[in-house]
Amino acid sequence: MDNSTATQKPLASTIAIRARNLNLWYGSFQALFDINLEIKQGMITSMIGPSGCGKSTILRSVDRINERLGYVRIEGAIEVLDQNIYAPEVELAQLRKQVGMVFQRPNPLPISLFDNIIFGHRIHRAPNEKYSKQDESDIVEAALRKVLLWDKVKDRLHSKATVGLSLEEQQKLCIARLLPVKPTVLLMDEPCSALDPKGTAAVEELIWELRGEYSILLVTHNMAQARRASEECIFLLMGRVVEHRETDQMFMSPSCQETANYIEGRYG
Ligand SMILES: Nc1ncnc2c1ncn2[C@@H]1O[C@H](COP(=O)(O)OP(=O)(O)OP(=O)(O)O)[C@@H](O)[C@H]1O
Ligand SMILES: [Mg+2]
Repeated sequence: MDNSTATQKPLASTIAIRARNLNLWYGSFQALFDINLEIKQGMITSMIGPSGCGKSTILRSVDRINERLGYVRIEGAIEVLDQNIYAPEVELAQLRKQVGMVFQRPNPLPISLFDNIIFGHRIHRAPNEKYSKQDESDIVEAALRKVLLWDKVKDRLHSKATVGLSLEEQQKLCIARLLPVKPTVLLMDEPCSALDPKGTAAVEELIWELRGEYSILLVTHNMAQARRASEECIFLLMGRVVEHRETDQMFMSPSCQETANYIEGRYG
């Protein structure tokens, strides 16, 4: 066995993201309390809960964008594929390669469609790896096919991504541009909330298609979406995990009264 193989993480883990006793403060305000979670590999896990309960804070902790704010303090650990991402030896660039994020409002870069898709790949590829124009074209085509956008945009790959695409198409593009770097985890923070019902359905179908290949953590305010589009569901309340179960079970027979109240629309 050569060294590189010996030092690789075992592929056996079935847990994509694990939070261990995670506590987080914004200044003196504690936003997360003793979060312990195991998000399974290849699954879609939705995260629901009233506004301000800490959903986005958890997502932002998994790709370490919270720490850009100087006043955030974190205790505990988050592991992605068994590696603590807050360990000193972890490089942010490596983490960003493993973990992709999709936001509420699609945010394509004001460059061409082609360049949007290949952007991350160019940043993350090893300096000694050479890619021809054809290689790059193949990568772009595969990513756009995966999100069902290829036929729509193949004749205008070199026009600006910020012009002439619907919000649904822009959000698909934002998902497509994560794929060439082959992330393990996709974090999605209310990815359909800016879309109309048709766009929402299309992006939901796409997310469903991506399961298996990617581990997806999907924040949503839309109960119907959580039910339709996730296999497991986490309910958060005031910075704490109240319940984490199979989605069907959680919606059919929640084990906590707080979950039942939320699902039935009694608050939040
Ligand atoms: N940058 C910040 N600085 C200070 N407090 C923050 C910051 N971001 C979030 N908070 C606070 O942390 C708590 C959790 O916020 P978070 O954005 O994670 O909630 P959320 O569940 O995503 O809410 P929403 O459903 O409205 O998006 C809230 O009380 C919020 O006011
Ligand atoms: Mg949020």
